[in-house]
Amino acid sequence: GKGNYAHFMQKEIFEQPAVIGDTLHSFINPATQAIKLPDMPFNIGEATRLTIVACGTSFYAGLVAKHWIERYAGLGVDVDVASEFRYRCPPLPKGGIALFISQSGETLDTLAALRYAKSKGQKILSIVNVAESTIARESDVVLQTFAGPEIGVASTKAFTTQLTVLACLAVTIGRENGTLSKEAEAAIVHALTELPKQAAEVLHHDEEIRQLALNIADARDVLYLGRGLGYPIAMEGALKLKEISYIHAEGYAAGEMKHGPIALIDQSVPIIVIAPSDELFEKTASNMQEAAARGGRVIFLSDAQGLATVGDIASATVELPKVADFVAPILYTIPVQMLAYHVAVHKGTDVDQPRNLAKSVTVE
Ligand code: M6R
Repeated sequence: GKGNYAHFMQKEIFEQPAVIGDTLHSFINPATQAIKLPDMPFNIGEATRLTIVACGTSFYAGLVAKHWIERYAGLGVDVDVASEFRYRCPPLPKGGIALFISQSGETLDTLAALRYAKSKGQKILSIVNVAESTIARESDVVLQTFAGPEIGVASTKAFTTQLTVLACLAVTIGRENGTLSKEAEAAIVHALTELPKQAAEVLHHDEEIRQLALNIADARDVLYLGRGLGYPIAMEGALKLKEISYIHAEGYAAGEMKHGPIALIDQSVPIIVIAPSDELFEKTASNMQEAAARGGRVIFLSDAQGLATVGDIASATVELPKVADFVAPILYTIPVQMLAYHVAVHKGTDVDQPRNLAKSVTVE
């Protein structure tokens, strides 16, 4: 049941500190603090290329993984939505690994893409939440997210646990192919183990985010901006808002604003900016300034350092804990989930069963 929560989605958002912890515990050896994935019938350090295929929120997890794996493990990664991938007949490289990400493990397009990749000689890896699923059964190696059953149609804890597993995968590839130093690995593992506590801190902003949501509920369009690891989180935030509140929202790479979408901005458009104080911060901050100068109502998600630098440009801010760049996308997902949730509750939509949507999409 939902316990004391009003909706499954809310319960599932609040379960994230625990299930991120459960997922980490299954991949980090507590004695050595080393990441240990299940044994694989191939050497992942010898992969020539990684092809990631998924749908919806699971696809956005793939985009975060691309950034991690290319940057920290030096392996080239392609990411596709399954419905596009399968009809393009893409050539797949010898020695390539294909990774399928799916909460349900039953998404038809993702399954069809898996079968295609298998027919092209790829080694098949999957990340699923449902261990007994078809995608899991047809994979060479399954990495499970320990999110527990996800009932709300909007994916929340499945996404953050997918990211947790993908972080462990990126570290493993980097270690096995010699790209990631021992020190860098230790720093990432440390940052990951801090996450459950920091995620719990973010949940304390619930009432503050509920208040912010009241000012978004009557918007017609909402923009989400991020750079680097923040860009997929901007898209995920926009998808959450669309599917449960029915407000039109778009996630954009902050640097793309001036190539078109900035034309949308006026006083009526809330702009959610996802910008931890990382190496890209100043660039994102200047995009935020451009948006604010055109009358956009900026809601700025950052840490104390980021807020101290440019917080006064924003019409509202949420202060998140300062975290290592690597893990920031996991943490910054939580406030965008909460924002979408509260907007939907305020609008009175069916949060757990939004119109026109199914939890598991087993048709094309
Ligand atoms: O079960 P899967 O992860 O394969 O599902 C993929 C998408 O259908 C899913 O993430 C969908 O986009 C969610 N409703 C998003 O909240």
